[in-house]
Amino acid sequence: MKKNIAIFASGKGSNAKAILDFFKESKTVNVSLIVCNKADARVLEIAKENKISFCVLTKEDLNNENYLLPILKTNEIALIVLAGFLLLIPSYLVQHYSKKIINIHPALLPKYGGKGMYGMKVHEAVCANNDAITGITIHFVNEHYDEGEYILQKNVSLSKEDTPLSMSTKVQQLEHEWYPKAIESILL
Ligand code: GRF
Repeated sequence: MKKNIAIFASGKGSNAKAILDFFKESKTVNVSLIVCNKADARVLEIAKENKISFCVLTKEDLNNENYLLPILKTNEIALIVLAGFLLLIPSYLVQHYSKKIINIHPALLPKYGGKGMYGMKVHEAVCANNDAITGITIHFVNEHYDEGEYILQKNVSLSKEDTPLSMSTKVQQLEHEWYPKAIESILL
């Protein structure tokens, strides 16, 4: 039987798209739901284009277990995949889906993590520190931003010519390559 995953995303959804493409023909993993907290997020267009069920929720909905848990149960979700989801995951969800919620962060944690460290802010900080490498961290989710147990880290070299924008391109390539593989290895 296929295992269902839900992708939680707030933005453009390039990781959601990479995951959808990776599992399109899969006999074992099915992307069955996209959960989003922004009604105008590009990821919702991706959901529609790929005929994936989606749910737009508010912060209050997310924090209300009577709202979200039934939706996840109805869809028989085995793994929640955060892909650019900006709201903090409430503790009832962390407890209910213990070791079944994962996140991807666009830096080598524990550096450049925590509340407010997302998107270009991460790459600007890496650039300001003249770091020689950057990368990605895929980790389990706990009640704190970017603090759960690591699953995988991959790095990429930086040169003096790199800018926050070029860093984001390098990091995104790593994300699209490794996030689907990490999901598969957790589920199989
Ligand atoms: C990614 O860089 C991911 O690491 C972070 O949010 C970004 C989402 O990008 N958590 P996208 O919406 O998947 O393009």
